[in-house]
Amino acid sequence: MLLKTALLLVLVAQVLMLDNGLLRTPPMGWLAWERFRCNTNCDEDPKNCISEWLFMEMADRLVQDGWRDLGYVYLNIDDCWIGGRDASGRLVPDAKRFPHGIAFLADYAHSLGLKLGIYEDMGKLTCMGYPGTTLDKVVQDAQTFAEWKVDMLKLDGCYSTPEERAEGYPKMAAALNATGRPIAFSCSWPAYEGGLPPAVNYSLLAEICNLWRNYDDIQDSWDSVLSILDWFVQHQDILQPVAGPGHWNDPDMLLIGNFGLSLEQAQAQMALWTILAAPLFMSTDLRTMSAQNMNILQNPLIIKINQDPLGIQGRRIRKEKSYIEVFMRPLSNEASALVFFSRRTDMPYRYQSSLAQLNFNRSMTYEAEDVYSGDVISGLRDETNFTVIINPSGVVMWYLYPIKNLEMSQQ
Ligand SMILES: *[C@@H]1O[C@H](CO)[C@@H](O)[C@H](O)[C@H]1NC(C)=O
Ligand SMILES: *[C@@H]1O[C@H](CO)[C@@H](O)[C@H](O)[C@H]1NC(C)=O
Repeated sequence: MLLKTALLLVLVAQVLMLDNGLLRTPPMGWLAWERFRCNTNCDEDPKNCISEWLFMEMADRLVQDGWRDLGYVYLNIDDCWIGGRDASGRLVPDAKRFPHGIAFLADYAHSLGLKLGIYEDMGKLTCMGYPGTTLDKVVQDAQTFAEWKVDMLKLDGCYSTPEERAEGYPKMAAALNATGRPIAFSCSWPAYEGGLPPAVNYSLLAEICNLWRNYDDIQDSWDSVLSILDWFVQHQDILQPVAGPGHWNDPDMLLIGNFGLSLEQAQAQMALWTILAAPLFMSTDLRTMSAQNMNILQNPLIIKINQDPLGIQGRRIRKEKSYIEVFMRPLSNEASALVFFSRRTDMPYRYQSSLAQLNFNRSMTYEAEDVYSGDVISGLRDETNFTVIINPSGVVMWYLYPIKNLEMSQQ
């Protein structure tokens, strides 16, 4: 049954997908916004202001600390890079903070095996008040980004009407396509229309965007993570089916490495975002990250799960006693990811269950690898009772795969 659903979703995805061949798995990389915001004070804070120097530093870290080789290849600029428009109406970066220009930064990224993302806004102004892309500027701006050899565009939606956005986002998709350069397209459009049908048409989004922000901006707190998670779960019947290879829901950046999450909460965000087949955009200071946070973000098994080629978004499958939730994401080779999540705030909770109770009924023998501890549980059958110990506001995450399958693939 699961496999049939998976195949069906893949077929549907092929029909609807934006046809630029990009982001067949969720994008991974680094995005400036959550951590560095609109800090333009380079005189007093030169190491942290939005400047080409900051992006070059992060590019170096992505390469030297092993991120790139794990798949974190996007180096993405957010708001506050724009200086204005020149006499011909062409966008130019802030001359003081980006003295060598965006093409230079793109070349630098490419020379390191990275990709460069940029930011604009469908509207009169960007959210922080820099020149936006009005309808008459869409084609010119797409051409400018392509000439600079940019690889991704995040198009925000401040300072525009719903009508302007309804015209502007498809127009930008067409303009990007017309440049001939494959540029991944991240649309903030649905977040400005409440994120739900009928105001949002997810079939249309999947045809024009590679990813889209559905809901509010993330802030550096556990409350913010929970509010986003709750919204995605509440609307999972709508959101889960619209994600797939080339077109993803985006619950926003990872906070891991910043100031608002405990270690358990950081592990939980990484696990839950992976269940959601979310983009893995870090937004943290890669120069000062702790080994603990690095271990979470660089966990090879969790990255493999996030990047599963079927690209099926997972769902919450159980909620028990108002504080225990179980999430499941189907993966290729009949494997699954399971996340056991506790909202308790007192002590580790012993959760007892069986695969049968979680609706597994395939009469197979499984092995479960705990993604964070590396522990392996062997010989799990549908009816086998098991106990997982879940820390407060924490997770246990399993990579679950049938043994039979493993034996076959090894022959
Ligand atoms: C433009 O769209 C066509 C048709 O969907 C597609 O085949 C092509 O790869 C696209 N090109 C780019 C650069 O996105
Ligand atoms: C949503 O968009 C799709 C694809 O463009 C279109 O076929 C469909 O009619 C739209 N649905 C509604 C309700 O507008």
